[in-house]
Amino acid sequence: MRKKIVAGNWKMNGSLELVNNLLPRLVEVSGEIQAEVLVCPPSLYLAQAKAQAGSQLAIGAQNCSEQVSGAFTGEISVAMLADLQLAHVLIGHSERRAIYGETDELVVSKVQAAIGAGLTAVLCVGETLAERESGDTLTVVLGQVNTVLSQIGTDQWSQLVIAYEPVWAIGTGKTASSEQAQEVHKAIRQELARSDADKAETVSILYGGSVKAANAGELFAQQDIDGALVGGASLDADEFISICRQAG
Ligand code: PGA
Repeated sequence: MRKKIVAGNWKMNGSLELVNNLLPRLVEVSGEIQAEVLVCPPSLYLAQAKAQAGSQLAIGAQNCSEQVSGAFTGEISVAMLADLQLAHVLIGHSERRAIYGETDELVVSKVQAAIGAGLTAVLCVGETLAERESGDTLTVVLGQVNTVLSQIGTDQWSQLVIAYEPVWAIGTGKTASSEQAQEVHKAIRQELARSDADKAETVSILYGGSVKAANAGELFAQQDIDGALVGGASLDADEFISICRQAG
């Protein structure tokens, strides 16, 4: 009923060489992978990645501007992403929130801009270790989700993917246990269901945070985990392909 998606977030890693080597490997096996495969390289490589991906893989951006166009040095607009025929953009990644000070309000503006341009917004949410330890996980995560849900209509959920990424599990080698992840995914889906129970079943909710070939299967077996947002492991073709194959 809802799409399984495995997304690779290269962050500020990789090179033209990696684009030209890794993407053809993914294209080669794409016929054997049931999940939708999305690769998000640094923006400088998006055009080349798109050319390598053909129609078999989706290519997405890691960020976008909330502004339409104009004097915003260093920014990339949603119209530019659409111009390259990209269909996805990550929004509100915890590194954007923590390092570049992106607020919930800015995240909402970016989601609205992306959806308005016909793109799918991959909204990233997640709690810090301190928030988990103080028992605030669901308050924080559902708060981040609701800030966005309150500003978009349920008819726009077809252009929304949610990625739950506990901040303490990103790049640390610590994965949330499949039960910990499922608990949050289920809570997010219940929150969606408060607005529209049927549509809540159609929104893909991905897990992110130290996903590897070795732990992907157990995560994907959970009822409300519809795929993964993979950082470090997406830079290694064999590892990433193995994760993609497990999302059936
Ligand atoms: P990681 O990153 O897989 O390297 O933990 C995930 C992410 O930040 O999207």
